[in-house]
Amino acid sequence: MSELIYLNGEFLPQAHAHVSVMDRGFLFGDGVYEVIPAYAGLPFRLKEHLQRLNASLEAIRMAPPLDDDQWNDILTRLLAQRGDADQQIYLQITRGAYGRRLHAIPEDVTPTIMAFATELAVRDPELVKQGMSVITLDDIRWERCNIKAITLLANILSQQQARDEGAQEAILVRDGLANEGTASNLFIVKEGLIITPPKSQHLLPGITRDLVLELAMDAGLPYAEASVSVEELEQAEEIWITSSTKEVMPVTRLNGRPVDNGHPGPMWEKMDALYGACKARLRLRNAPPDNCYD
Ligand SMILES: Cc1ncc(COP(=O)(O)O)c(C=O)c1O
Repeated sequence: MSELIYLNGEFLPQAHAHVSVMDRGFLFGDGVYEVIPAYAGLPFRLKEHLQRLNASLEAIRMAPPLDDDQWNDILTRLLAQRGDADQQIYLQITRGAYGRRLHAIPEDVTPTIMAFATELAVRDPELVKQGMSVITLDDIRWERCNIKAITLLANILSQQQARDEGAQEAILVRDGLANEGTASNLFIVKEGLIITPPKSQHLLPGITRDLVLELAMDAGLPYAEASVSVEELEQAEEIWITSSTKEVMPVTRLNGRPVDNGHPGPMWEKMDALYGACKARLRLRNAPPDNCYD
């Protein structure tokens, strides 16, 4: 199916959606992005994603070029192309094209705004059942990992290293602390307590991370936001990683060794069920607004 791409106010076939080679996103990676899942054609946690988008823009000294209603109109039109299907939206804003290559931020430059919807990459059921393999790597990224910047070379190289070593994700370690994955947030279970590192400049404030904490709170599951040392990671009863497309994935191998008994743990099973129920509530279009239905 040849879907339309939103580009700077127009909905265009992919073959006609062109951006200047002088675009600062292309030249410098000077831009930010979001990935928003949609279930049964409805965006999941849209308000939170747009809040994070605006926080990323502010952090790179850009004013939001569109308000939430304008985004809503664009995303509704993109999603309507596949009707009620589960989908994911990618949206990106770069600082735009300027006449010459200049590190300093030009004053008179118009942002490039782009968005498209694709089929949701469904989680591999076999991997969900078996659990993921991860490795730990030194975090070679910069000090502003809270910004969802399109500049992702360090994430790409680290993710590829994990693949080269037969794992699916790398947990990034800085100063002895495990902060997050290359494209996911990190949770461990220690003595029955669900723990995720607190928000900081060393990790992305994941929308799924926040939802998992809300679901834990609502269900009365014990949880804490606390730093996770490499030793705690190695001794964890359970390890999970979370993201908008992976949802809550169990990790059963760390650096080639089994995590606890090498099977997805009971706390993960509970959380995965809570997350699934949350998605199911969104699918019921007449469900009352709650955590899951924005
Ligand atoms: C570095 C990083 N951390 C965490 C996440 C998870 O964020 P979210 O739950 O908002 O998808 C992502 C998502 O791609 C990411 O790239």
